[in-house]
Amino acid sequence: MEIIQKNNQPEILLVEDTPEHIEAVVAVLQKNNFRIRIANKWSTALKLLSQHQPDLILLDIFMPEMDGFELCKTIKRNRAYSSIPIIFLTARDDEDSIRKGFELGAQDYVIKPFNTSELLARVKTHIKLKQQTESLKEANRELDSFCYTIAHDLKAPLLSINKLIEYLVADYRNELDSEGQELVTIIQEKSLEVIAIIEHLLEFSKMCEMPMQNEVIQLEHLFLDVYNELVQLQGERQVELNLKPLPNVTGDPVMMRMLVSNILSNALKYTRTREIAMIEVSFSESENEYTFAVKDNGVGFDMRYSARLFGVFQRLHSQNEFEGSGVGLAICQKILKRHNGQAWMIGEIDKGATFYFSFPKQAACAAATLRST
Ligand SMILES: Nc1ncnc2c1ncn2[C@@H]1O[C@H](COP(=O)(O)OP(=O)(O)OP(=O)(O)O)[C@@H](O)[C@H]1O
Ligand SMILES: [Mg+2]
Repeated sequence: MEIIQKNNQPEILLVEDTPEHIEAVVAVLQKNNFRIRIANKWSTALKLLSQHQPDLILLDIFMPEMDGFELCKTIKRNRAYSSIPIIFLTARDDEDSIRKGFELGAQDYVIKPFNTSELLARVKTHIKLKQQTESLKEANRELDSFCYTIAHDLKAPLLSINKLIEYLVADYRNELDSEGQELVTIIQEKSLEVIAIIEHLLEFSKMCEMPMQNEVIQLEHLFLDVYNELVQLQGERQVELNLKPLPNVTGDPVMMRMLVSNILSNALKYTRTREIAMIEVSFSESENEYTFAVKDNGVGFDMRYSARLFGVFQRLHSQNEFEGSGVGLAICQKILKRHNGQAWMIGEIDKGATFYFSFPKQAACAAATLRST
């Protein structure tokens, strides 16, 4: 059932089956020019959601024909709907139901029989919050695309500068005294550093924009494959990899390879000073997710600054000790966000570091065209 008001008004999906409650809610919302669609069954609610996304859902938790908590959980688990605020309507003001509603992701609740001004105030507040969140997301998207454009436009002139320096060195090296030669070498190194940063930034922006594929990934195989690739570039080092059996996950293959590559490059880089570098990859699981851990025995870091690790250009080691642009972990975090996962790190100076990432067991990637925030 649909009650249409003016077109530009926020739309509310009311999931309720008691006629007098429907009437009461509709009366309040209609008076305030909200558009309302009503579902009195689980299947109707999901059908209406798939046809058109409302700005807010009012959900009766206790209905004889369906469990409102389960519906709340289903909606919040679906990435396409998870940002729609849910206010649950409950006749019971017992702590347990209210806590359960919040745990399942609902934003607020109203107790029936409800006070109309309270219902209206809560609806308006959550719609406003949603609109503000959306404009923040939009601003973020603009920033991502600005970042991509800058990085993209800087890359070509930087590559030309680098080529010109190469010609300069090839044609005039003998005409420069030793100080001149040293300066040219430094310029060459610095220009390569900037090009590496730009390339990393472009990769980072790609992670925000790139449409996603959903495939089964053999994570254990992927870790081994990427490790073999990277360890070949390490020269005469002694590295021991302890790769425990890992489960398969569902995700984007290109992004997952990039994630694993960044994690292992760090583990290899920051163990460089160790006589024998040791890297252990393992996992644990809970009902809904896996947590993977990549532990190394490297130089570690100071946990007081751990909040900075995942920021773009943030580094806890100097360029003289370990080269890098400080974008790798920001890329990892972006990739995990897009897979509804999370990343964090634990470390101690001189005692190694562990990179953790959680990953949902269900196929829960952001919709292919969705961009993460
Ligand atoms: N395994 C690790 N052990 C110790 N410190 C680490 C480890 N991994 C990351 N870090 C710290 O976190 C910082 C950020 O890591 P990130 O991968 O983003 O950048 P990076 O390695 O410096 O450069 P790049 O962009 O080339 O990866 C690093 O500069 C380093 O200080
Ligand atoms: Mg790195």
